Amino acid sequence: MYIIITSSPNMHGLTAACGQAALNGMISAGGQGEIIDIAARQLEPCRICGNGWGTCRNMGSCVINDIFAEIQLKLRDAEGLFVITPVYWGLPSERQKYFGDRLRRCEAFREGGSWLKGKNINLVAAAGGSGNGTATCLVELETWCRHMQAVPGERIGITRFSREPVLKVIEDAGARLVRGEYFKGF
Ligand SMILES: Cc1cc2nc3c(=O)[nH]c(=O)nc-3n(C[C@H](O)[C@H](O)[C@H](O)COP(=O)(O)O)c2cc1C
Repeated sequence: MYIIITSSPNMHGLTAACGQAALNGMISAGGQGEIIDIAARQLEPCRICGNGWGTCRNMGSCVINDIFAEIQLKLRDAEGLFVITPVYWGLPSERQKYFGDRLRRCEAFREGGSWLKGKNINLVAAAGGSGNGTATCLVELETWCRHMQAVPGERIGITRFSREPVLKVIEDAGARLVRGEYFKGF
């Protein structure tokens, strides 16, 4: 199973279209995928427990009772991922940051290794405005991947101006993820 994380409140926007393109590509290559829209579910920000670290640091789990733990397990078992975020202020959406912050805390120092270690993650920044900040958003996502020892596959910026051609690129990236055509090292 491949997982596609999206984090836009706009159910019919550019981010959603990217998620569907990634899924179509996976299916075309014989894979199975699931889109998880973390903007549509209950997800809280990190509470910064203790002196800065909580159970994330020594147990690899978060004390907040919301959808986080369920998704964390799905990512542990996933064959590969897409993370697709709208570009807000040149960064991933607040919802992606909520999720990403908590996941990184749990995985970066997990005893026995990150559950995402060695997994390919295709990164997509969907910019519906000027397109400014697409690159900085991707830099954030790539750094986040590295903190968890995941392996970035594609870093794809899509704007409303490049929508149709780049949706095809995303579909192709979905197929290539299933075919295992990405770099495996760190
Ligand atoms: C708070 C906020 C900040 C934004 N910042 C940027 C930006 O820095 N660059 C950009 O090109 N678009 C920006 N946008 C536009 C979004 O990227 C646009 O809404 C995009 O289509 C998001 O994907 P969606 O269609 O899934 O909503 C911003 C939108 C919001 C709501």
